[in-house]
Amino acid sequence: MRDVFRRHGSRRNAVRRWTPGAALVASLAMAHVSPAFARPDVPDEIASKPNPAVLDGDEVRYYERQYRGKCARCHGADGSGGGEEAAAQAVPPANFTDAAFMASRSDGQFFYQILMGGGTRCAMPAFGPESDSGWSEEKIWHMVAFVRRFAATPAH
Ligand code: HEC
Repeated sequence: MRDVFRRHGSRRNAVRRWTPGAALVASLAMAHVSPAFARPDVPDEIASKPNPAVLDGDEVRYYERQYRGKCARCHGADGSGGGEEAAAQAVPPANFTDAAFMASRSDGQFFYQILMGGGTRCAMPAFGPESDSGWSEEKIWHMVAFVRRFAATPAH
């Protein structure tokens, strides 16, 4: 923990910014050995933000179409990371059906990746308001909720 305090300057600062949720997410991410790792520059207040979006039935169909059109070529139509362009990526596209991987990331980390893209880590494009796709933040939060469904236990 001492390293954490040092990195944030003062003990008081560290306690305020290093919430238990962020600490849990960070330790899970470190335990994960996949080449994929969360963008290191996700601001704390985004990484720890709960997803404000809830998908209803019609929205699931809409986001499935968006996913197939914009994400499946790398992440695969089934979310397993095996899209036709996956092999051309410098690092493997995330596997959304891998429950351990999905548990290692917060909704806010996913939100930031979709907003900003892969940056210097991979060729994943940005989808945020400033990008060619021009998705609103609301739309991105909904896509995070959609992506979570690949590893969710099916409802009975
Ligand atoms: C050109 C290929 C490509 C496309 C298109 C693409 N991705 Fe990715 N994506 C990747 C790669 C490669 C990674 C793994 C490396 C990384 O995390 O930057 C990744 C990682 C991710 C991650 C995990 C980030 C993390 O914290 O590990 C999420 C979430 C994600 N993509 C969502 C999406 C969504 C949603 C779309 C469509 C709207 C999309 N991607 C489109 C290539 C792509």
